[in-house]
Amino acid sequence: MTFAHITGWGMSVPETILTNDDLSKMVETSDEWIRDRTGIRERRIVGDGQTTASLAVEASLKALQGANLHPTDIDLIICSTSTPEHIFPATACLVQDSIGATKAGAFDLLAACSGFIYAVNMAAQSIRSGAIQNALVIGSETLSRFVNWKDRSTCILFGDGAGAFVLQASDMPGGVLSAVMHSDGSGGDTLILQGGGSKHPATEATVLEGKHYIEMDGNEVFRFATRVMAQATRETLEMAGIELDDVQWIIPHQANIRIIAAAARGLKMPMERFVVNLDRYGNTSTASIPIATVEAAADGRLKPGDRIVLVGFGAGLTWGALAAEWTGPLPTERKVYPRRYRAWARIRSFLLRITRVIEGLIWGRGS
Ligand code: ACO
Repeated sequence: MTFAHITGWGMSVPETILTNDDLSKMVETSDEWIRDRTGIRERRIVGDGQTTASLAVEASLKALQGANLHPTDIDLIICSTSTPEHIFPATACLVQDSIGATKAGAFDLLAACSGFIYAVNMAAQSIRSGAIQNALVIGSETLSRFVNWKDRSTCILFGDGAGAFVLQASDMPGGVLSAVMHSDGSGGDTLILQGGGSKHPATEATVLEGKHYIEMDGNEVFRFATRVMAQATRETLEMAGIELDDVQWIIPHQANIRIIAAAARGLKMPMERFVVNLDRYGNTSTASIPIATVEAAADGRLKPGDRIVLVGFGAGLTWGALAAEWTGPLPTERKVYPRRYRAWARIRSFLLRITRVIEGLIWGRGS
């Protein structure tokens, strides 16, 4: 029997910090209001030249380094994002090219803040079925590019960042144990970015109407989130055959400390068993769960053998939870340096582009 283990992890956040005090100079708000109502103190914001793919690449290289895998060992890349570089091509393909994952299939997955759970589950299923050996799963967002910085009800919440996991096949029991995925499209309009899609293609009018900004009914999303977090956690644990008492860490989507506290109350679990870092990063959507996981692993809270539950909710509406036994790198003799592939990946990418131009000349463009 094949199991899907989480063997590498990495994160990347922009250096620029936007504090609540900074925001209070932009909109009518205060540090006190934001901290009281959300728990957020500051968030990271991308600068010029940083994009969803560039954050994803950084996180991915760290995850590969941790797993001790070459980019060429990866069979599948799933990039979960609601803020892709383009509608197409997929951001996952840009990552594939940039890191030199020459053998990987690559696609984006859009399930908003629940996306990372969906993506890890998809990768784990592919590994357990025997179809693939190694997968790279990324959650990456640049929400700051879609936030209306004049709307105090949304701009205080979001931040940018990326996290990535490497999943590997092994016959050693453990790894991803179960997952549940849910959706309710009837609530789609409670959290929506209307412009730029096929219903409202970008025009001068859509821009003037602000359709390219995130719109949210915060109270509605809040009510929905508090309802589903505990419920999804229980479902996935039941599926995995694990008792709540045997779980060391719940790693929730980092949207609002009051939503996490409601989940803790619903599960009758102390807040100390929830990994929380939203005070420093805000809501980074699908990146929030992997970033929180990476930090918990880095500071030694998360240890091999620990049982964890990832649980999240988001636009769609979507929600889900995933139970796993934390593994860490699989034993191996070799030592790899995935970053060294980047130079080769650039040359390879350049040569492939040149080849395409030459082919066009030989075969006649447009004939
Ligand atoms: N600063 C000061 N006052 C504010 C601010 C602000 N930034 N924002 C709203 N207010 C005011 C409102 O205008 C309102 O004033 P009024 O009473 O005079 O009308 C008052 O504060 C209370 O507003 P509420 O919206 O009721 O505040 P609430 O306590 O519900 O908090 C919040 C709002 C933080 C948005 C909360 O509803 C929430 O966190 N919802 C969930 C949002 C979420 O998680 N979204 C992401 C989902 S994941 C994804 O897919 C990206």
